Amino acid sequence: MLAKLSQIEKEALAAVAAAAEVAALADVRVAYLGKKGHITQISRNMADIPAKERPQMGQAINQVKEAVEKAIEEKTTLLQAAALSAKLAEEKIDISLPGDIFARGSRHILDTVITDIEEIFLGMGYTIAEGPQVETDYYNFEALNIPPDHPARDMQDSFYFSDNLLLRTQTSSMQVRTMEEMRPQLPVKIICPGTVYRRDDDATHSPMFHQVEGLYIDKKVSLADLKGTLLYFARQMFGEEREIRLRPSYFPFTEPSAEVDISCFVCGGKGCRLCKGSGWIEILGSGVVHPHVLEMSGYDPEQCTGFAFGLGVERIAMLKYGINDIRLLFENDVRFLKQF
Ligand code: DAH
Repeated sequence: MLAKLSQIEKEALAAVAAAAEVAALADVRVAYLGKKGHITQISRNMADIPAKERPQMGQAINQVKEAVEKAIEEKTTLLQAAALSAKLAEEKIDISLPGDIFARGSRHILDTVITDIEEIFLGMGYTIAEGPQVETDYYNFEALNIPPDHPARDMQDSFYFSDNLLLRTQTSSMQVRTMEEMRPQLPVKIICPGTVYRRDDDATHSPMFHQVEGLYIDKKVSLADLKGTLLYFARQMFGEEREIRLRPSYFPFTEPSAEVDISCFVCGGKGCRLCKGSGWIEILGSGVVHPHVLEMSGYDPEQCTGFAFGLGVERIAMLKYGINDIRLLFENDVRFLKQF
């Protein structure tokens, strides 16, 4: 019986050695150590051997069981390791490859220009006011000295919700709102950046665009203050060598009114394509706040004076960065936007 046992052990170990995969080892375990397995079978036959040989036989069977179990375990570990390295070799994961690169967004050029303008005026002690884009006829026109039949309305045709409610055509509406809120305090010193709308659409006009309004009211504010302020702004924005000139103009809410030009920053004033040979480029509208506007907003024109100005952000951006079509600013073509 011992001989048979050692024969079975030899076969079992050979089967373990021959197993090429983990599943085959499971079969070997069943065949030798399972309920009906060869080794289990032998221990069932213990009754057939003389009683005094039984302990020795029992011990021998246990040793064989342990040996086979150990061989199966060792081979299992071996096969698992081999399977893993085969899988790794096949998958070829290159851990030195760089990860996926996500495109990172950046600020829109108009946003940058608005911030630049804000910084310049914040530096001069202005605060920033913001107001509604849906505006009443009163704030957008009437309180700015533009009554219902005034011809100045023709230049600012807009988008109406009703006779009384429209998308604002100019940030000048914020002059009135600010004065109403602050009266009777002095000084009033604000800029208001914001979106405005007009029924215009070509290479230099967009139905939606942006303005920055400025308003400064105090006891003795004069046209000279306006000129000094705008000269400082022009130099900060377009370079220290800039000069400005004020050309008489007309706006219903200022008197006198002026269009402000800066000396051309491409040719320095000699005349080139950008300035159309004149040496000057128009950048904004401005003037001394009309006494009637002050009065309507609750300030006494005998007690205070002020100036106002309004500039187009797109125009400033186009001039400064050499952009020739306003629509490029709103098409969201990344190839364009990436350049700034
Ligand atoms: N609101 C004017 C426009 O959109 C621009 C403007 C001109 C604003 C003169 C002002 C100003 O504050 O004083 O055409």
